Amino acid sequence: MRSHPRVTGFLAQALNHEYSAVQQYLTQASLCTLWGLADWAEGFRHEAREELAHADLLSQRLLLAGMAPGAGSLRPPRPGRDLEEMLCHDTDLEQAAVELYAEAAAVSARLRDHEVAALFARLRADEEEHLRHLQELRAALAARR
Ligand SMILES: [Fe+2]
Ligand SMILES: [Fe+2]
Repeated sequence: MRSHPRVTGFLAQALNHEYSAVQQYLTQASLCTLWGLADWAEGFRHEAREELAHADLLSQRLLLAGMAPGAGSLRPPRPGRDLEEMLCHDTDLEQAAVELYAEAAAVSARLRDHEVAALFARLRADEEEHLRHLQELRAALAARR
């Protein structure tokens, strides 16, 4: 099914977001490995895999819409200099995702592209879950100090 250009525009923007998130979480995983923080490295790697699964869903939808999926404008990763800063940058990233998906879902629904609207709503729910997880990590880190 062909989608409205505004909808495919959001799909492309979302794919850029997801690959940027993969890049940021993987950079943080690598840094944590170098710092000897294996548990944290695994946690960030897990996040990177979840964002990669989002990129997969968006790529499938772009292909169905007759477009070649590709992230042409990755945001430079902002890993942070310590765990607190990492979680702070990740919170910014996830907040931006929630806002992007809220707008994308609303516009897609308005244009009666209900399947894509449902995909964006699902991704928004996942990113809200990521935000909650980050809040827990930040609280646990603050309690340790
Ligand atoms: Fe995501
Ligand atoms: Fe996320």
